[in-house]
Amino acid sequence: MESLLLQDVYKIYKEGDIETVALRGANLVVQPGEFVAITGRSGAGKSTLLNIMGGLAVPSAGKVLINGLDIAKMGESERSLFRRQNIGVIFQTDNLIPFLTALENVMLPLQFAGRRHCTEEARNLLSEVGLQNRIHHKPGMLSGGERQRVAIAIALANHPGLLLADELTGELDTATAEQVMTLLAGLNSQRNLTLIIVTHNKVVANRANRQVHIMDGQLTEITNQIARN
Ligand SMILES: Nc1ncnc2c1ncn2[C@@H]1O[C@H](COP(=O)(O)OP(=O)(O)OP(=O)(O)O)[C@@H](O)[C@H]1O
Ligand SMILES: [Mg+2]
Repeated sequence: MESLLLQDVYKIYKEGDIETVALRGANLVVQPGEFVAITGRSGAGKSTLLNIMGGLAVPSAGKVLINGLDIAKMGESERSLFRRQNIGVIFQTDNLIPFLTALENVMLPLQFAGRRHCTEEARNLLSEVGLQNRIHHKPGMLSGGERQRVAIAIALANHPGLLLADELTGELDTATAEQVMTLLAGLNSQRNLTLIIVTHNKVVANRANRQVHIMDGQLTEITNQIARN
């Protein structure tokens, strides 16, 4: 369970003479254990924001506090260690290594972290996401929803307190997206995970306890929504 605070976060991409201001003073407070959905149109800066919250990118300016620690101020290696110990990230695409089985994909971060019972732990994680019968399948032999479940198992491998997911239901049909969201909502309540998802799908966003909209590089709270969880 981690808390998150963004304060006046800017992200400016520079390519030659061209500058793109993706974030323009974004502010956000997320309490431990909250389930927040971030919505916004394509190009609004959602992935940029998620990468910054996950310590995978640094802001051009502003603070990114996780449990009170500013990850924007950390050096590369300190931030990467902090990320591995505290944050799980599910990316918009390409979460899995194609030539490894589901089990091997999940074992990888466990081995990297030097854990002793990697196979057993990976099996348990895959069971937790309902894939106990698909562990020897490679990504190409899994459905989109199953692949996303493997990505969730990988993100959970290091017992993060903060789980970030970028558009993970984007390419799934409504029923499968619902199942994946039910899985995530369950993890949020059972594991006390702070959960932040990015989506452009309103139905998916409605599963969160709170919705935040990104527009013109800034975040605004969406109120008057019915909390369903
Ligand atoms: N590495 C980069 N270099 C330059 N510009 C970038 C880079 N990454 C993103 N951008 C630009 O920053 C803006 C925000 O991009 P971002 O990927 O955060 O949007 P998004 O909300 O995730 O969009 P989508 O819904 O399509 O995934 C866009 O204008 C994009 O072109
Ligand atoms: Mg994106």
